[in-house]
Amino acid sequence: MSSTQGGTGQEAAVDPEGQAAFDAIIDADGRIEPRDWMPDAYRRTLVRQISQHAHSEIIGMQPEANWITRAPSLRRKAILMAKVQDEAGHGLYLYSAAQTLGTSRDTMLNQLNTGKARYSSIFNYPTPTWADVGAIGWLVDGAAICNQVPLCRASYGPYARAMIRICKEESFHQRQGFEILLTLARGTGEQRAMAQDAVDRWYWPSLMMFGPPDGDSPNSARSMAWKIKRFSNDDLRARFVGMLVPQAEALGLSLPDPDLRYDDAAGRWITGEIDWTEFQEVLAGRGPMNAERLRRRNEAHDDGAWVREAAAEYARKQAMSDGGPGAGPHGGAPARTDAPATEPRAQRAVVGQEGEAAA
Ligand SMILES: [Fe+2]
Ligand SMILES: [Fe+2]
Repeated sequence: MSSTQGGTGQEAAVDPEGQAAFDAIIDADGRIEPRDWMPDAYRRTLVRQISQHAHSEIIGMQPEANWITRAPSLRRKAILMAKVQDEAGHGLYLYSAAQTLGTSRDTMLNQLNTGKARYSSIFNYPTPTWADVGAIGWLVDGAAICNQVPLCRASYGPYARAMIRICKEESFHQRQGFEILLTLARGTGEQRAMAQDAVDRWYWPSLMMFGPPDGDSPNSARSMAWKIKRFSNDDLRARFVGMLVPQAEALGLSLPDPDLRYDDAAGRWITGEIDWTEFQEVLAGRGPMNAERLRRRNEAHDDGAWVREAAAEYARKQAMSDGGPGAGPHGGAPARTDAPATEPRAQRAVVGQEGEAAA
């Protein structure tokens, strides 16, 4: 895709005073808010990062939703439905945060649906067994937590605040995935083999979720200077692996990484060689499930057309009944569909005023 995900319509001119105020907030570890002046590149970086993040949450619903109808028990089905709904909620918080930067929901969704926007490459892998739901929770949500906890302190206020709630929910996701794997690992030989197979398939793609090695991540330094990003890709990856090792032991499952070792001198875990060609291929749209994910996304978007139309019509009627633009010829409230037809117009107007005063 191109370097940004669409213009924001709010190009800031060079503004030495604004720049100085911005720098002072960043230096003091404060928060930049939508009303504040910010450099164009900062705004563009955030629009790209937050919208990609939102897209990942929405596309990320698909691999696991694949198992809702086939979850092995009512309890598992209820948990999985709640988890997939959480991911939809994460997408909504994040689209809203991106909108505060001047981009529109329609623009972002159009970029996703037409394949112009990126989302996390991890969601382009298939989920052939129930154990994949466990491996996704443990590894994918686990990697998401490592990536996202530092984002709760990102310098852009709406993004940081959205991440606080998201991280609480991701932590539940990670635990439920671990618990699925634990149940399988303590089950029959066949169940244990299914759990191990899922871990073998998701381990390497989950390491790729942290992005390319630090040497190949040219924009990282700038994002760190802006305090959007707090740790490098490789640092976060090492931290994640350090978290996995004792948990894999508790599960009685192995990580498919014979070269994985703890480096005493460096004080961190070192993984085996990551296949970055595979990462680039999946990112370029040639992963096992890219086409299917995009097809299903467009189908869901088309299926939801009636909801968007109904919401727009409802908003239009609300605006009319509030005497806003498009109000009736007498300047008062035309009939509201949710108000009794016999209610005097004057009384409704008073109620409306009180409502406004209280708002
Ligand atoms: Fe999420
Ligand atoms: Fe999650």
